[in-house]
Amino acid sequence: MNENELQSRLLHIDKIGVRLTRIMWALILGFGLSAILNMAAAAGSVFYDHMPEKVAETLYMKDFHFGTFSIDALKDSIEAHHLAGIGYLMYSLYSALIVMILSFYRKLIITVVRGGQPFTEEAGTMMKKYSYLTLFFIFSSNPIVTILLFMILRLFAVIFDYGAYLQKKANETNRIQEEMIMSFAEITENKSGQTGQHIRRVSEYSKIIAEELGLKDSQVEMIGLASTMHDIGKLIIPAEILDKPARLNDEEFATIKTHTTYGAALLSRVEGDIMQLSKTIALEHHERFDGNGYPLGKQGRAIAPESRIVAVADVYDALTSRRSYKKPWDPKDAYDEIVKNAGKQFDINVIEAFKSGYERIEEARERYADKDTVEDCEL
Ligand SMILES: [Fe+2]
Ligand SMILES: [Fe+2]
Repeated sequence: MNENELQSRLLHIDKIGVRLTRIMWALILGFGLSAILNMAAAAGSVFYDHMPEKVAETLYMKDFHFGTFSIDALKDSIEAHHLAGIGYLMYSLYSALIVMILSFYRKLIITVVRGGQPFTEEAGTMMKKYSYLTLFFIFSSNPIVTILLFMILRLFAVIFDYGAYLQKKANETNRIQEEMIMSFAEITENKSGQTGQHIRRVSEYSKIIAEELGLKDSQVEMIGLASTMHDIGKLIIPAEILDKPARLNDEEFATIKTHTTYGAALLSRVEGDIMQLSKTIALEHHERFDGNGYPLGKQGRAIAPESRIVAVADVYDALTSRRSYKKPWDPKDAYDEIVKNAGKQFDINVIEAFKSGYERIEEARERYADKDTVEDCEL
């Protein structure tokens, strides 16, 4: 089962959950009403002598029994209307118990389905336990209702168990992807000769920009992770070019450009949403909004939004970092340079997000600063 299938199955369970909570609400109302009416009837039996004869007889003089709980056995020792009172009381308690169980289930389902909490095995186990409570009334005069309820409640438990299983699988896939990504990122960093924290900072800046753009938390996290592999293609670029302490000539620059396509080719072999996004970012992070970038010369919205975000993060970090051929720029100058390029090199909306998140970007830059950027080198 691949990750997409897992997600679509989880979504399907969510949909079933929403429908079930509606049915449960109706059941809760029904059983709640039954609890109240039966309780009223039970209490009424005390006033039996003061009731109009017709009402008293209809309510309390029928042959009343509550299944094999056999209150019939008490028939000789207490008066019939008290017997009926006890019967009503038991019905009322039964309904109240069902209301309790259903409310508990409904709350759990809502937390998971609408609250976006993950399915857990504990929830499934708890549901199973609660469902047994209904069996307490299996000997009532309504065994079919009891069995049906028991089965419905067990069904919930099974759905939750299955949800928990799928969730676990999905988490496992994500964990493996994350581990692979971190190792890839580390290898690239070691090879590329870039300042140690470049990948970390690009990831942080990208997340901040994505947040400012109003993306969902899960998307923000994904961009943060996927961005760490944007330069993975540098693994094939010779170290002499990567570390060259001077401007590159045309041929060398052409070689360096291939890190985008090579990175994408490398990542396209791996399955999973994050890896697919990484591939896109690796391929497109040097594309420009005006179409003058590389490797494909894509333009505007043809470039994935995630790539447009990482492009800004990457350039801001490149400018403010030391490279073998240049000193780090002053952050203020780098900021102006980036903003100046809105609509040319960069997407205008992304630049707006960069501007509004700039304070946090600067905090991240300081937090993940390279150890050696404090003193200027003479290159
Ligand atoms: Fe790059
Ligand atoms: Fe980079």
